Amino acid sequence: MAANNKLPVVALLLLLGAVTCRADYGYPVPGSAGYPRQPQTPTPSPSPPPSAGVLAVGFYDSTCPSAEEIVRGVVVRAVTQNPGVGAGLIRMLFHDCFVEGCDASVLLDPTTANPQPEKLSPPNFPSLRGFEVVDAAKAALEAACPRTVSCADVLSGGRVSFAMPAGRRDGRVSLSSEALRFLPPPSFNLSQPAASFAAKGLGVGDLVVLSGAHTIGVSHCSSFVNGGRLNASTSDMNPALAASLRQQCPASPNATDDPTVVQDVVTPNALDSQYYKNVLARNVLFTSDDELLKSSQTAAAVVLNAFVPGLWEHKFKAAMVKMANIQVKTGTNGEIRRNCRAVN
Ligand SMILES: *[C@@H]1O[C@H](CO)[C@@H](O)[C@H](O)[C@H]1NC(C)=O
Ligand SMILES: *[C@@H]1O[C@H](CO)[C@@H](O)[C@H](O)[C@H]1NC(C)=O
Repeated sequence: MAANNKLPVVALLLLLGAVTCRADYGYPVPGSAGYPRQPQTPTPSPSPPPSAGVLAVGFYDSTCPSAEEIVRGVVVRAVTQNPGVGAGLIRMLFHDCFVEGCDASVLLDPTTANPQPEKLSPPNFPSLRGFEVVDAAKAALEAACPRTVSCADVLSGGRVSFAMPAGRRDGRVSLSSEALRFLPPPSFNLSQPAASFAAKGLGVGDLVVLSGAHTIGVSHCSSFVNGGRLNASTSDMNPALAASLRQQCPASPNATDDPTVVQDVVTPNALDSQYYKNVLARNVLFTSDDELLKSSQTAAAVVLNAFVPGLWEHKFKAAMVKMANIQVKTGTNGEIRRNCRAVN
């Protein structure tokens, strides 16, 4: 979504997120529906990710000047009605960009020709949310500027209010198997998500910064109980948090009994740097959170993010822009979908 050129507008939605956003960061029960039981390091791409096409701030200034305002209006209304939307859209962008690039492939519904698109893959179904908000924004855009603004730009700009370059075009390929291949489950140790990120041109620094999104949202119990995180003999989770989670979660979560818990036990609804203090105190749900202390490089970044005011917020915006630039389709690649759920 083209950002307002006049100023790098900061934090309208981030502030909304600060007071209200919740999202489900958990995965469905590991082992169900083809979810791999053993962590799998993604097969490295045969070549480095294609260089990003050129995106531009203000991309729709002449073709659809109200685009940003339209999308923001829809998202603000949705977040007001359902606080889960803000964080849900951040997670949806991550899950879109890591699979086929930021091309709205995650939005495509199943068809007879493609019965298993990304959105039905275990990392996405049933936990990914926010699809109806994207639909509403797209409908409003089509009414104002038909066939002009891509679904990929709606998704990448939907919940940010800082300068997000635009010009992405929508993809036509969406495969469940690719989502399993490229999305790192939360049970991963540090080297595995680092490999997932490297395969997309992101560094360990980006991994540390984007992990900070766990400062909001909720997780299914299965995402950490089944990985042994509540077992004191195998996990160094803070014992007080582990005791609290044992109260909230069944011993063996399954598809029919899998409650959710907040990710940030201190400030669950604030998009802030508290996550990093939680990491230092071992007050985090996932192996992948805890692993940030396992290397001196990432541990140092955790400490800085925890204690330098404003540092994480600044880095998070930059990392979101970088993530939203992964393998984008521009120019004559891809298309501008009429309906975000179907290829033209
Ligand atoms: C992470 O897990 C993989 C697979 O289980 C293992 O091969 C690797 O040694 C682990 N890395 C670290 C740093 O523990
Ligand atoms: C905790 O982990 C230990 C060591 O792997 C294992 O022997 C034990 O059965 C586990 N306890 C539970 C409750 O799963």
